[in-house]
Amino acid sequence: MSGHGTPIPMTSHRAEPLKGLAEVPGDKSISHRSLILGAMAVGETKISGLLEGDDVLDTGKAMQAFGAEVVNHGGGNWSVHGVGVGGFAEPDQVIDCGNSGTGVRLIMGCMATSPISVTFTGDASLNGRPMARVTDPLALFGAKTVGRQGGRLPMTIVGAAEPTPVRYVVPVPSAQVKSAVLLAGLNAPGKTVVIEKEATRDHSERMLAGFGAEIAVEETDEGRVITLTGQPELKPQVISVPRDPSSAAFPVCAALITPGSDVLVPGIGLNPTRAGLFYTLQDMGADLTFENKREEGGEPVADLRARFSPQMKGIEVPPERAASMIDEYPVLSVVASFASGKTMMAGVKELRVKESDRIDAMARGLRANGVTVDEGEDWWSVEGLGPEGVPGGATCESFLDHRIAMSFMVMGMGAQNPVSVDDGNPITTSFPIFEPLMTGLGAKLTKG
Ligand code: S3P
Repeated sequence: MSGHGTPIPMTSHRAEPLKGLAEVPGDKSISHRSLILGAMAVGETKISGLLEGDDVLDTGKAMQAFGAEVVNHGGGNWSVHGVGVGGFAEPDQVIDCGNSGTGVRLIMGCMATSPISVTFTGDASLNGRPMARVTDPLALFGAKTVGRQGGRLPMTIVGAAEPTPVRYVVPVPSAQVKSAVLLAGLNAPGKTVVIEKEATRDHSERMLAGFGAEIAVEETDEGRVITLTGQPELKPQVISVPRDPSSAAFPVCAALITPGSDVLVPGIGLNPTRAGLFYTLQDMGADLTFENKREEGGEPVADLRARFSPQMKGIEVPPERAASMIDEYPVLSVVASFASGKTMMAGVKELRVKESDRIDAMARGLRANGVTVDEGEDWWSVEGLGPEGVPGGATCESFLDHRIAMSFMVMGMGAQNPVSVDDGNPITTSFPIFEPLMTGLGAKLTKG
């Protein structure tokens, strides 16, 4: 939905030691893809552990508008009765993707090679984000787009009636763009080839293979070359969505900066395209261990154990790690404030076009709370003040960005004075149980 209601300020007071089990919700990326691929399969896909955040619920509504039957059976169990590749009906209403860049970009991809016209919109954050990165490759399939200046939503896409497959080198490290092209390729005859110079999260490739598509991935000098054969019959699946490493980041980081903490975050995927934050925290000297390592659904999984880590040091985060932790830089910058010395984060230009300009949003809030931040177009650095050195005490803007709001709530748990955000509503887009989960561990969060 495009509205977030009246802003509700939220404050995080210095926490008790955080203790216990943090069972974070299902993975957002995999949840979107489960609904979309389920809608493109023939028959019933069953999904357990679906993230029931606003972003994913909006994608579910969209799939229903395209003719799939999406049913909530309660307790995170959902089913999708798909219409098959090429079977989408034309929605009779505007598709509102709310706050979700992943939702809108993946859905644009999956409809662009069907002979239907669809108008997309979102909230103020989504309507400000660049869509040309997706509509440019979709035009190569034959889709036509009319949007606002700068390729912004609201936007209408007229799907290609006779799509041609494409070969596309993704110009920015983006799993959303890669996935949009692959989903469009599903209904184009012949082979669609997508090349990415830097590896980004590979859930689409893994799940397309799981649904029975013919897809091959080759590592070459040009990069990762993904070849998809179009017009398969996708077979419905039984999917158990793993817990989200990007949500796990919040209780993990909170435990590292809150004196006396010891938190277990069970069942977190350590897919190398997603796990960069955890290795970075270990490089900083965090007391973060991977327990009970195992494989689930073909993915490496572990229980993460995070304990208070006053010994952490600032580091240079390897830029080549950026894609594998792109959503985690905001909360990493909070941890960096509690480390000793400077943390340098380079190669992160993409942070400027997320739900907010995340470098700008975090820099403003960190500075207001007494932390020194330096920044350039594609880098930023944070001067750590040590475990007891962060003053806090300020109210930060969350800019309709769930991860900015949650990052400042984490900051308040270890800071000397409470930290507030002007609006905690966006948190429900990805982590609807953030407040009860964190207060259950010992956090002190107040609203209003
Ligand atoms: C996502 C890809 C990333 C990430 C987003 C989820 C996905 O965006 O930031 O939260 O599920 O494909 P980009 O593709 O823009 O990097």
